[in-house]
Amino acid sequence: MYGLVNKLVVATIERHYGADRWREASRALPFDSHRYMAMQPYDDDETYAIVATACGHLSVAAADLMRLIGRDWVAHTSRHEYRELFAFNGPDLYTFIGNLNNLHATLGNQMPGLRPPSFTVRREPVGHIVVGYYSHRAGLAPLVIGLLEGLCEHFGVRATVRHARSRVDEGDHDEFCIELEP
Ligand code: HEM
Repeated sequence: MYGLVNKLVVATIERHYGADRWREASRALPFDSHRYMAMQPYDDDETYAIVATACGHLSVAAADLMRLIGRDWVAHTSRHEYRELFAFNGPDLYTFIGNLNNLHATLGNQMPGLRPPSFTVRREPVGHIVVGYYSHRAGLAPLVIGLLEGLCEHFGVRATVRHARSRVDEGDHDEFCIELEP
């Protein structure tokens, strides 16, 4: 994955568990987790190894850590390095999710070989938003839950995000239901 993702992953681990604890834990990795350049691509295995090492050494479940990374990703980048991109991508939750494919496609112009996920979005009559998630990668559904929770928080929407359908069980994509509070 592009270095900016790995940088965000490491930054979240350090913020929540402490830079010293991560320095100690990351000695188990066969590469330096602080060497990433945002606009360079790296092997996906490194991203998975960082998460696995953090889970093993910091006693956190992978799904919990990925969810935290997703929430942090939105909270941090929407205030800092991608502030303008966030403002530009949509004025409300529904529009923003609907524009995520364009956002990633635009990034792809400067990032050759980017393999972004893609999303579908629809409103349900009962006041829910259903998000479809398609990816070349496996195992990232908890990250998406965190990202969607982060987006709800960003737009001041009170909601619960539920993993409604898993591609492992039922086909080629995951589905998430954003259950809006009345
Ligand atoms: C300005 C904000 C964002 C930027 C700059 C950004 C950029 C990126 C980049 C560079 C990757 C790595 C892809 C690769 O290396 O092949 C990625 C992956 C990903 N992005 Fe975004 N993204 C942003 C916002 C979001 C948001 C709000 C979501 C919400 C759902 C999202 C969902 C994902 C997911 C789930 C992945 C993991 C890769 C996969 O599923 O295959 N991104 N993004």
